[in-house]
Amino acid sequence: MAGHFQAVPIADKVYWVGAIDWSIRDFHGYSTNRGTTYNAYLVMADKPTLIDTVKAPFFDEMLGRIASICDPKSIRYVVSNHAELDHSGGLPALAALVKPEKIFASAMGVKALAAHFHWDVPVQAVKDGEKLDLGGERLACYETRMLHWPDSMFSHLEGADILFSNDGFGMHLASSARFDDETPDWHYEAEKYYANIILPYSDIVLTLLDKFARAGLRPKMIAPDHGPIWRRDAAQIVSLWSRWAAQKPADKAVVVFDTMWGSTEKLARAVAEGLGAGGTKTVVMPLRSSHRSDVATEILEAGALLVGAPTINRQMFPSVADVLSYLKGLKRKSLLGAAFGSYGWAGEGVQQVHDALTAMSAATEPPVKCQYVPDAAALETARALGQRISAKLKEAK
Ligand code: FEO
Repeated sequence: MAGHFQAVPIADKVYWVGAIDWSIRDFHGYSTNRGTTYNAYLVMADKPTLIDTVKAPFFDEMLGRIASICDPKSIRYVVSNHAELDHSGGLPALAALVKPEKIFASAMGVKALAAHFHWDVPVQAVKDGEKLDLGGERLACYETRMLHWPDSMFSHLEGADILFSNDGFGMHLASSARFDDETPDWHYEAEKYYANIILPYSDIVLTLLDKFARAGLRPKMIAPDHGPIWRRDAAQIVSLWSRWAAQKPADKAVVVFDTMWGSTEKLARAVAEGLGAGGTKTVVMPLRSSHRSDVATEILEAGALLVGAPTINRQMFPSVADVLSYLKGLKRKSLLGAAFGSYGWAGEGVQQVHDALTAMSAATEPPVKCQYVPDAAALETARALGQRISAKLKEAK
């Protein structure tokens, strides 16, 4: 059964038995340009234990890796740290094949698994802090509610000091290498993952990191369910999460726009000139070539967001509505910002962008708009907007 898939040892009696998804480019609306992994882990305790599974189409790959270590039917326990289908999709087939003695999940996880699979497989709820005796190994379970689902849970293998952190400290990055020290170009993907998945729950991140620090939980290794395993410097990703969760505004601005006949683009370029003249690091993102999830990533450590939209049929341009809806949900705090754009008749689109930024507490300057093609005065107004935002970013530091 093992075939060509092999498990990768990560510590004594602990193996990575996940799957590599080289092909995925859209993860529920997030652009995964470098693919992803679905990490599952096998602990060869007296009661062989599988921690999480993989997305359903990758079940055979996981099973092959398990079979390179043991007969999959010898698995006695399964710990489901998270019910989202990229980690639980393989669970029904595994449960049917292996018939484990016990499947463990958080109390919310028990409900979430039932609501996904509508099955009669018993799942045992574990309490926050409960320690499971795997036979020669102990696994402590910690609820991490809303990181990033209500059911989310971390588990800590005490002897080897490995934190199985599920989505925590993960990233979408397919690689033939399994460890952080083998994949040095991970930073943007980690940032993108935080910005697009975790950002709305930043207050919970800060509370949880504080709780773990006070409990003395500083694991030697962090094994997430996506991307590399942190074995060289687990503290580094924890420190980055702490920084991202704090959402301190930096002297950086993101200018996002779409355009119909180039007028809103001219305004965007003038706004960017003003920001740049003030010394603000500025990233200009035309929406015809910038994915919403990359916009979110650039905003993670920015201090300002300026959004330009033409008006079409009395609405803001659809690509701008898309990105604003997405960013609103991500709840980035402490942004300065403004709307701008060109219009033909009444210019409702710019006001709609302003309203969307207001809902994000990011409309700190009045909107700038011009009819049809901007003249020199309109471009100077746009440039002055950039300069004002730049000056305010410096005051905020
Ligand atoms: Fe990787 Fe929330 O699933």
